[in-house]
Amino acid sequence: MTAKNIVLIGFMGSGKSTIGRHLAMRLERSFVDTDDLVETVSGKKVVQIFEEDGEAVFRALEKQVVREISKQGGRVVACGGGVVLDPENVAGLKENGVLVYLKASKETLVKRLKRGIDRRPLLRGVDAEKKVDELLDKRVATYESVADVVVETDALSPMDAVGVVAGIIEERPDD
Ligand code: S3P
Repeated sequence: MTAKNIVLIGFMGSGKSTIGRHLAMRLERSFVDTDDLVETVSGKKVVQIFEEDGEAVFRALEKQVVREISKQGGRVVACGGGVVLDPENVAGLKENGVLVYLKASKETLVKRLKRGIDRRPLLRGVDAEKKVDELLDKRVATYESVADVVVETDALSPMDAVGVVAGIIEERPDD
């Protein structure tokens, strides 16, 4: 039986890609990132898609790559922060995966996000702190409710978080 995917979800800046990459190496699984796949299928950067085509086009591409990812297990998947806001994405990912929410406080997220605002189309050109606040208000309940596992990352280094997630997965032999 192929293992389920370990699907990392959570807000921008919660460490999904960094933790995911290291987790995949540790567990000897392959790693996929929904944003990277969107860029591959579209031939454009995420920022460029938002600017030239709009968010709706990005969400449609994202949905297409999530559908593909959901067909196959055994990988570590880092999801863009908006993926699980679509119930069909959640249903697909859950068929073949354990959803791990990397939870972080607003303060931690803002601190981490300040370093890469230019790569985050939803935060460019606006008051980033206010926008993070607004989006968190809208999203946190969804992240919590769709998650199979919640890992609080505020006090953890990325490598510590890798260890915590790996430990939890190892304790779930059916996944
Ligand atoms: C988004 C998060 C981004 C990316 C896009 C939209 C969101 O991914 O998919 O900019 O809606 O939260 P990260 O969470 O990897 O930054």
